[in-house]
This record gives sequence, structure tokens and C-alpha cells, in this order.
Amino acid sequence: MKQDLLTFANWTPEAMQNLLQLAVEIKQAPASYSNVLAGKSIVALFEKPSLRTRVSFDIGINKLGGHMVYLDVQSGKLAGREDAVDTAANLACWADAIVARVFSHTTLETFSKAANVPVVNALCDKYHPCQGLADYLTMFERFGKTEGLTMAYVGDGNNVTHSLLIVGALLGCNQVVVTPEGHEASPEIVAQAKAIAEKTGVTIVESTELSAANGADVIYADTWLSMGDDTPLDVIKEKFMPYQVNEALMEATGASYVMHCQPAHRDLEITGSLIDSDKSLLMQQAENRMHGQNAILTQLLNA
Ligand code: CP
Ligand code: NVA
Repeated sequence: MKQDLLTFANWTPEAMQNLLQLAVEIKQAPASYSNVLAGKSIVALFEKPSLRTRVSFDIGINKLGGHMVYLDVQSGKLAGREDAVDTAANLACWADAIVARVFSHTTLETFSKAANVPVVNALCDKYHPCQGLADYLTMFERFGKTEGLTMAYVGDGNNVTHSLLIVGALLGCNQVVVTPEGHEASPEIVAQAKAIAEKTGVTIVESTELSAANGADVIYADTWLSMGDDTPLDVIKEKFMPYQVNEALMEATGASYVMHCQPAHRDLEITGSLIDSDKSLLMQQAENRMHGQNAILTQLLNA
């Protein structure tokens, strides 16, 4: 039976650990994996813009010996021509897998049912699982482990927050989520992560106070305005500026590193000087997008 990756929420801690180890292996010995997608074609369909995800999938698939077809539906033309269910069934006639960045998680669920090939979530309104894997791969490389560490996410509770919570809980990493009031992570997804955390012994703390991040190993920032959110910047700035990830916060929390999924907005959610500092893991995270995704594709297409 084909396996999709819409979210890691239904994965076991053991399966998550194995995938992380596969990503480490592929990064260390790429030559051993240069043919795992030989003869395979993967369609990558994007309803929203992308730099990292699009390019890292394309180049990553090439490094595994496969071929990627980029399908731009940002103009909405394709989405308007036929129903998602028919788009997915057609794509599955030719493609060995579908990678999709969509507005709504329900579109991915439709794809999953309609296509008899693996569907990979390249970001939706609820999750960004490929990002979560790359980020914990980065932490694993820095600390030699993920268990027992603490990540503190500061900012808007969003798709990235949700995947960090789930993957972190699976990999034994404690979580702190600091958001302004009214911008908390989804209670439903926090509950998913807490259910996993109970099994792995991880703590999950939510707060509106920055002091909750004290003692964290890593501070994580993301944009205050996710794609599709047209709240005026002035309104957002007033609420979020006190939550800026900056040198003072790094000092106060004692965190060793700062992370951000990018695109980053310098001197809004994170200071430009911190991005450029030796505490920054941003480019390592970006590089690891490819290695993590290659592990996902290797696993799903060879299952
Ligand atoms: N982090 C991330 O997904 O970046 P892109 O939006 O550029 O793909
Ligand atoms: N939360 C952001 C992540 C971008 C990679 C968004 O959805 O726009």
C-alpha cells in the first residue's frame, strides 16, 4: 500500500528516528543513494511561492537519479480548470509521487485519496513536515542528539510551529511555544503533539511570556505573516515587535543557537545581525531541507 507524508502526527517515535538516521546517512554517503529514484518522475505542484522547497526538491531528486516536473498553479488557472480530485488522479497516471504546496490541508487529503502514488506535503495551512525534519536534522548535527534538548519557538503559532511540535515530540525534544495572545498554535495540533509527548517523556509549554524560553537550547523564529495572510504589517508589528528574536533574547534565555525556516524578514521577526551571527543555523537548515526530503522520498518510493 502506498504511504503518504501529509503530517508526521501518525508516525511512531521509532519510525521518526529511523527517518532522521536515513537523512544523516544520505547526507554522509550521497553516492550510495544516487540511483534510488532512477527512472522515477515526481510532480511538484505549488499553489504558493517557494524558493527553498522548490529548489531543494528539484536538485535533491536529481541527486537521487530521478526527474522532477514543476507545476505552477499559482496563477490559479489549473485549479480553476478541473477539480483537485481529477488533477491528482491524472498526475498519478504518469508520476511516481506528487509533492504539493497548497493552501488547504483538505486539498492534500483529496490528493491522497485520488492518487495511487505517495503524496508529500510541501507546506499547507496546518503543517510543514519537510521543514520539521530538516530542523531536527540540524539540531542532531549540532548537539549529537535530539533527546533532552529544548526548542523554544517564538512568534506566530503556525504551520511550522505545528510540525516542530510534532517532530520534536517524536524525537524527544522538549518544546516551548511563546506567542502573543490570540496567535497561539492550534489547540487540536498541540493536543496531537501532547499525546506523543506523553509517550516520549517530552514537556510542551505554551506561554505569552518570553521568560518561558529561558534555558532553551535553541530559539526558533518564523514570519509573523504566513503566505496568504494579508493583515496590514502595521497591525502585526504593534503586536509582535515585543516578540522579536534578537540578541537581547538570546542573552536572556542563554540559548546556544537561533533557527528560522526562512524566508526571513530582517529586523522584523529576527534581527539581521543575529541571522549573520555565529549563533545562526539558518543556512544549515536550508541545506538540510534537501537531505531530509531525499530521505522522505527514498523511504516512500521504496516502501
Ligand atoms: N522554508 C521554506 O519552505 O521556504 P520556501 O517557502 O522558500 O520554500
Ligand atoms: N509560516 C510560513 C512558512 C514559510 C516557509 C508560511 O506559511 O508562509
